[in-house]
Amino acid sequence: MSRRRILVTSALPYANGSIHLGHLVEYIQTDIWVRFQRMQGHEIHYVGADDTHGTPVMLRAEGEGVTPEALIERVWHEHKRDFDAFLVGFDHYYTTNSPENRAYCEQIYGALQATGLIARRPVEQFFDPVRELFLPDRYIKGECPKCGAKDQYGDSCETCGATYSPTDLVNPYSTVSGAAPVRRESEHFFFRLSDPRCEAFLRAWTQQQGHLQPEAANKMLEWLGEPGEPKLADWDISRDAPYFGFPIPGTEGAKFFYVWLDAPVGYFASFARHVERRAAEGVSIELDHFLRPGHDTELIHFIGKDILYFHALFWPAMLEHAGYRTPSRVFAHGFLTVNGEKMSKSRGTFITAASYITQGLDPEWLRYYYAAKLNATMEDIDLNLADFCARVNSDLVGKYVNIASRCAGFIVKRFDGRIGTMAHGGAGAAPCPTLLDDMRAAQGSIAALYDAREFGKAMREVMALADRANQYVDHEKPWELARQPDQEARLHEVCSTALNLFRLLTLYLKPVLPRVARDVEAFLSIPPLVWADATSILAPGHVIEPYRHLLQRVDAKQTEALVAANRENLPGSGAAPGAPAAIARTGPDASVATKAVGKATATPATPSAATAPATKSAPAAAPPGQLTIDEFARVDLRIARIASAEQVEGADKLVRITLDLGGETRTVFAGIKSAYAPETLVGRLTVMVANLAPRKMKFGVSEGMILAASGEGPGIFLLSPDDGALPGMKVK
Ligand code: MSP
Ligand code: ZN
Repeated sequence: MSRRRILVTSALPYANGSIHLGHLVEYIQTDIWVRFQRMQGHEIHYVGADDTHGTPVMLRAEGEGVTPEALIERVWHEHKRDFDAFLVGFDHYYTTNSPENRAYCEQIYGALQATGLIARRPVEQFFDPVRELFLPDRYIKGECPKCGAKDQYGDSCETCGATYSPTDLVNPYSTVSGAAPVRRESEHFFFRLSDPRCEAFLRAWTQQQGHLQPEAANKMLEWLGEPGEPKLADWDISRDAPYFGFPIPGTEGAKFFYVWLDAPVGYFASFARHVERRAAEGVSIELDHFLRPGHDTELIHFIGKDILYFHALFWPAMLEHAGYRTPSRVFAHGFLTVNGEKMSKSRGTFITAASYITQGLDPEWLRYYYAAKLNATMEDIDLNLADFCARVNSDLVGKYVNIASRCAGFIVKRFDGRIGTMAHGGAGAAPCPTLLDDMRAAQGSIAALYDAREFGKAMREVMALADRANQYVDHEKPWELARQPDQEARLHEVCSTALNLFRLLTLYLKPVLPRVARDVEAFLSIPPLVWADATSILAPGHVIEPYRHLLQRVDAKQTEALVAANRENLPGSGAAPGAPAAIARTGPDASVATKAVGKATATPATPSAATAPATKSAPAAAPPGQLTIDEFARVDLRIARIASAEQVEGADKLVRITLDLGGETRTVFAGIKSAYAPETLVGRLTVMVANLAPRKMKFGVSEGMILAASGEGPGIFLLSPDDGALPGMKVK
């Protein structure tokens, strides 16, 4: 077998949310495959990084009053901690906000420009006139054009299921500021995917043997359209300032690379950093052999099916035309469902990696369960929590660990830890006369299944062998032999044979259970197992250490507690750490909430929408468009007297307001300059949100927001209480 040289990646998780069990389908799957290939003796490099750029990170950082750099630094540590906990062994875990990535992006962009594959043309987009920011569609909400349901996203209605585009929304509003968005034009940069060179390349590349799974290759045919009537549109690769990302060279900081341009390039940047670090340790890796064409290396991407478009079209076309090598394989997997349904925060099945660890569940249980469920297709996989408990207990504890726990003690207590001779013909007596030989012979088929990512089939084959090993032990009954003084030799032989079977099972499970395997290696007193060890045995005379407990059973109560813990993470129920604190964190920028529908009391509901983009499908706490009373009660609304109000130099919309809350004072910045001359505001009473997290803005820290109404026409109308209300009174 020739030694493969493989660079493997998992998709780069957004630095905008926590790692959850859905993500882990991918990282665990990749890690198992990587560990398997490493056990085969191949040269394999596994790299990843946080995907840090884009509007959501920028807005979230602002909302938290920190710089984007500080935010992504903190999240990087959280992600790294989660990956370590689940034994996902990246050789290097980096960030896309790195100098290496910037250099690669600029270089690739330059090369594409030189070959004439970059175009520029105007694009009309939603623009938030208060925040002065182009808005990704998911920051636009409004009323469903079909059924009128409020607070619907721009693509589909959660109430009636209608699909439409953001421009169809009735009374649209920006979830960032609450303002009605306007359409504004600006010049964008495009990667000319419609160029015949790209089309010709992609027609060939997507259909070539092995690059994509068959179902993915078919999907590409659909996307590519009929030859002669190509469907590929040019790809918009720029975003206007303000944006957190890399500026496009030659645009004076006005344009930035869109996050999806620099994200896959981040694979290369992470690898380059890895190569550099290894070099510092005296190990040389040929960077160009992995990144440039013409070398005998592989580039393999593990991704979820939702990002196939980027990895099977844009990325290979970019690489090809910028003079880089193209991916050898893109392995796409399906999505995780929990108990047969989409992960859901209200059901508590949107389970974070951190909560799984904090609740005391063993990461190897999940690794095994995923392995048992995974195959090479893009089908979704289901985590059924009852099945999870049953399978972990029956397979791992009942079948696998059971073999060692029933036999190792006798070797240590009765034979000074010394392994004896093997039973004749492998496992000796019926019912498995050649079990040891059979088990060794299975190494080829199990390896083929791992290599093909048919982990579920591999686990079934291993467990079938474990069943036979247990039958052997059940049949020989070492615990009875131990009571018969004349059966000493037989006892030694049976337990030695069983431990050899156990050693082989450990070897086959090692990619999935690296921690257990390490503990087994320690107790068997052997060097780290590699695949080639399947042909050897624990030789007679080899001395082992006392058996140590290897793996706990899982109790259904633990999964129940896990679900409960994640349900508690709901906004409005006392938010556990790490949970999106829906209302407190994300106030509209200008500290005045305006809402197109003109119902001022509903205004505090809109900020919670601003957290939704943090995840692709942030589920709502209450039915769509509604709040629970508890959620509403978290908003601390107070009567405030405007003690002073002044212009903010350099800001054409903002007024700096000092509010008197009956003793306490607060400063807020409100985007109401178009409607009120500051001096006319002084002395009047209004309503403020008093428990918004302070936000650092360009002009100072805003410590809350005041409420105002606005409609479709011009005008912003500040709220006032009836006579008798006093500063500091609670509004409820
Ligand atoms: N940042 C992009 C990827 C850029 S790669 C150059 C992204 N990030 S993500 O955080 O949303 O997802 C990271 C990976 O996890 C993706 O491959 C995605 O498909 C996968 N998964 C996210 N949620 C998932 C499930 N619920 N189930 C299975 N995989 C999931 O996309
Ligand atoms: Zn609707």
